[in-house]
Amino acid sequence: MTTKLTEIRAEFEARLAALSDLDALEQVRIAFLGKKGSVTELLKDLKNVSGEEKRVLGQEINLLKRECEERIAATVQDLKAKELERMVNSAESYDITLPADLSTGSYHPITMVRKELVQIFASMGFIVEDYFEVTDDYHCFEALNIPKNHPARDMQDTFYLDNGQLLKTHTSAAQNAIMRKYGAPVRAIFPGRCFRNESIDACHENTFFQMEGIMIDENISISNLIYFMKTMLSEVFRKDIKVRLRPGFFPFVEPGFELDISCLICGGDGCPSCKNSGWLELCPCGMIHPNVLTAGGIDTDKYTGFAFGLGLTRLAMMKYGIKDIRDLNSGSLKTLTQFHK
Ligand code: PHE
Repeated sequence: MTTKLTEIRAEFEARLAALSDLDALEQVRIAFLGKKGSVTELLKDLKNVSGEEKRVLGQEINLLKRECEERIAATVQDLKAKELERMVNSAESYDITLPADLSTGSYHPITMVRKELVQIFASMGFIVEDYFEVTDDYHCFEALNIPKNHPARDMQDTFYLDNGQLLKTHTSAAQNAIMRKYGAPVRAIFPGRCFRNESIDACHENTFFQMEGIMIDENISISNLIYFMKTMLSEVFRKDIKVRLRPGFFPFVEPGFELDISCLICGGDGCPSCKNSGWLELCPCGMIHPNVLTAGGIDTDKYTGFAFGLGLTRLAMMKYGIKDIRDLNSGSLKTLTQFHK
């Protein structure tokens, strides 16, 4: 049995040295420490041994087991660190000075993120709606519980047309129309271009993209909201994403939240990208305010719902490591053709 132990130890080390991702590591864990793993089998075989030999062997096998566990834990850390390095490097591989490759067309980074999100939400039963870029005060503000002279309007100054209409400041402007069109229950997402009268810098644009989502049904609660956001974000970033909610104020939700995700760069330990907090602010959301449901013709005794407003532009910047928002609207093929997929 002692030779077997030595063999297993050597095989374990060899397989560990050969693997390069977490899935492969899990396979190794199962092969050695799983219910039918070779180390587990050794422990089971102990019942055929007796006396002093059993005691000594038992100790040795347990030692091997502990060794394997520790080596696996260390390899997890190692692989995560390598993945982080890869992510950071790929974020930096975006280089504005590279010559443009015009041999094939490519999607705009925001379109790529939008298409991916649409697919994820469609698989969860959400319909995808389109909405105008030009709308009116009622849909953009009043129907969302933001009456005239409400201070919340200050943050959403926009461009007004001569006929009194305006360019929508957020995708929430479509909520009322969608509630009226479908009634309840409804699950819908509506991506769209939004406008705000902002001074432009690396983080602010007067034209940007959001994707709104609403889900209205009986017994919808904050847990549903958290579940959908977590599932969606884990798919977008292709790893398990932790989320947390902080209180946030938006007149059209009550309670309202800011949803943060664990920092993608440091995994939550704290780094310059997350200002050492371990969290990144990603998506405002909340339970739809009864006044908004009522304005949409929905019976508030029977239905509740959640809404979220995902910043598509921000998400694309995070996903592709784009540091200046202006690149996205620049129309520069030099920049935009670097995100081929
Ligand atoms: N529309 C809000 C904004 O653009 C975001 C939001 C959407 C907040 C849905 C809560 C719920 O600032």
